[in-house]
Amino acid sequence: MTTIGSTATESAMSEPITVPPFAVISGAQVQHALQGRENQIVQLIEATYRLHSAGDSVNPPSYFLRFPDRPSSRIIALPASIGGQVPVDGLKWISSFPENVATGIPRASAVLILNDHDTGYPFACLESSIISATRTAAFAALAADWFSRGRRRPTRVGFFGVGLIARYIHTFLARTGWSFDEIGVHDLSADSAAGFRGYLEQSGTTSRIAVHDSAEQLIRSSDLVVFATVAGQPHVSDLSWFEHNPLVLHVSLRDLAPEIVLASTNIVDDIEHCLKANTSPHLTEQLAGNRDFLHGTLDDVMAGRVTVPADRPLVFSPFGLGVLDLAVGKFVYDEVVRSGELHIIDDFFHDLRRYG
Ligand SMILES: NC(=O)c1ccc[n+]([C@@H]2O[C@H](COP(=O)([O-])OP(=O)(O)OC[C@H]3O[C@@H](n4cnc5c(N)ncnc54)[C@H](O)[C@@H]3O)[C@@H](O)[C@H]2O)c1
Repeated sequence: MTTIGSTATESAMSEPITVPPFAVISGAQVQHALQGRENQIVQLIEATYRLHSAGDSVNPPSYFLRFPDRPSSRIIALPASIGGQVPVDGLKWISSFPENVATGIPRASAVLILNDHDTGYPFACLESSIISATRTAAFAALAADWFSRGRRRPTRVGFFGVGLIARYIHTFLARTGWSFDEIGVHDLSADSAAGFRGYLEQSGTTSRIAVHDSAEQLIRSSDLVVFATVAGQPHVSDLSWFEHNPLVLHVSLRDLAPEIVLASTNIVDDIEHCLKANTSPHLTEQLAGNRDFLHGTLDDVMAGRVTVPADRPLVFSPFGLGVLDLAVGKFVYDEVVRSGELHIIDDFFHDLRRYG
């Protein structure tokens, strides 16, 4: 293995096209490259959404690999391509095995492959559960910011389902300028609720922390609600819990019954993506027979094409796009190159002469 500090793209531009070196970037390197960069990453995610909406991306539907013998698990493939100033193609390959948590390891594990724009060669494999959690937390913080511009900024946040994703979202909110009078916590698992409370206490938050046994109590006492459960089908259906018109970040996508969706303003990240895979908006479309309940995308809101009324609950259901992982992955790659710590796997691509 060699360590170098020049990018595949740079070497391809200055010399005749050659096969790019192949690098492996560890989770420790990814975390180091992203730490303390929350505001920058939120800006990167905003720019990537704008690029995607302008059509400068290719983001086909995610492919869900499921298993008859392990029905709660899946591995999702998210191929994508982004244009703009640093064009890159690639694939995120992310497993979700919810039973992992009981054995003490995270639910999700992932790699991200980056492909060279000019040759198509893969030039990096990055640990990607951190990239995935980071881009998810970044769009949650971005959405919370944009959606609260036309209404009272939330002061009481409630986390519904408190695993790793909830932790990342809290960190991003806190580091991008949010402070709350109260942080509510609700989880089916008392261990998760206690673990998240411990994390909050260590984070140095000055907010009051309230652990709620009841889902109703959590929602009624929060004006920003973050769903990050692993529910496979809707389990929240009482519209009266939402009569205070909270802002809801429906990150886990399958918690809300169609009754709630139909009574809310609904914003998604990408309409075609979100109306798939039995998400709550997908179930609502099947029930209603139309898409009239969707008000637009996050980019519509950012561009001023859609305004969000304050007199209904606002539900943001982000499917999570592969282009976001690519953008964050390329950012990490460039940071690692800059630090001179890129680990190249020598001779990864071999037998390159056509006739031997
Ligand atoms: N939209 C996106 O782009 C995106 C990206 C990343 C993760 N996610 C989703 O975020 C969710 C959370 O991921 P994670 O890694 O934090 O999972 P995790 O397993 O670490 O934590 C999930 C928590 O939810 C709790 N839970 C499950 N069902 C519940 C219910 N009905 N009520 C209350 N609590 C419940 C579990 O006890 C657990 O503590 C997953 O569904 C994942 O698919 C979405």
